[in-house]
Amino acid sequence: MLRRNILITGASSGIGLGLAREFAARGRNLALCARRLDRLTELREVLTKTYPEITVEVRQLDVTDPSRVHEVFEDFRSALGSLDRIIVNAGIAGGGPIGRASDEEGNLALLRTNVLGSYLQCSAAMSILREQNVGGHLVLMSSMSAKRGLPGPLATYAASKAAVASFGQSLGADAVGTPIVVTTLYPGYIRTEMTDTSGGEIPFIIEADLGTRLLAKAIEREPGSAIVPSWPWKPIAATVRLLPTRVVAKLS
Ligand SMILES: NC(=O)c1ccc[n+]([C@@H]2O[C@H](COP(=O)([O-])OP(=O)(O)OC[C@H]3O[C@@H](n4cnc5c(N)ncnc54)[C@H](OP(=O)(O)O)[C@@H]3O)[C@@H](O)[C@H]2O)c1
Repeated sequence: MLRRNILITGASSGIGLGLAREFAARGRNLALCARRLDRLTELREVLTKTYPEITVEVRQLDVTDPSRVHEVFEDFRSALGSLDRIIVNAGIAGGGPIGRASDEEGNLALLRTNVLGSYLQCSAAMSILREQNVGGHLVLMSSMSAKRGLPGPLATYAASKAAVASFGQSLGADAVGTPIVVTTLYPGYIRTEMTDTSGGEIPFIIEADLGTRLLAKAIEREPGSAIVPSWPWKPIAATVRLLPTRVVAKLS
């Protein structure tokens, strides 16, 4: 089904920005939000110049703010007339090992953004999609890190992305027999601001253009879930749960 009006959170950089470009090129109208409004405004200028037939709405939004998430999503709906696809993408990495005082604030910020923020976005999205009652597509950006609890500095991020995946699976079950479709995405490493801050070599990383092209393609198919790119991450997903803990301990 052609989803004409697409809301993307975290559209000021990386995957969200790349998806905005991909869907603009396919002629879709966009509702883009993030905290850095200046970046969104620049992006809107570029996209509407390149694709004058589309409408691009931008709003500033911190996804950890409960009242603002509902307000901004509703505002986008009013501006575009309807929301046909909502992509819950905003997220952060960082934090550090659990139980170290210096990392506490970073881990809490990560949980607020990735877990509370995703919950709030899902809540606002489902409320709108149910009310519209004409079908719609909810997409959640989990991660390959959700497939197995990871040690050290990755622990909180992995847990947060497992929570996102769990929201996706639950809402997918809720949507059975309704016109709503829910897709949970498990991307492997894609080079963005997020990966740039991690330092060191990142295995199997792909460039943002390719990553977002593959993600957009997967989103258009509207599966219940997708691992992107499939190689080498599908076989990794199949085996990572079976690894002994002493092997997983080396993954930090
Ligand atoms: N890159 C990867 O390898 C990879 C792999 C698997 C999953 N993912 C997931 O993909 C998503 C996008 O990540 P990315 O790699 O594209 O990273 P990124 O370039 O750092 O982009 C993150 C986006 O989230 C937004 N954001 C962060 N905190 C926010 C908040 N409190 N309120 C609103 N927006 C917020 C940022 O915008 P502002 O700072 O302007 O608010 C930015 O637009 C994340 O959920 C991430 O976990 C990434």
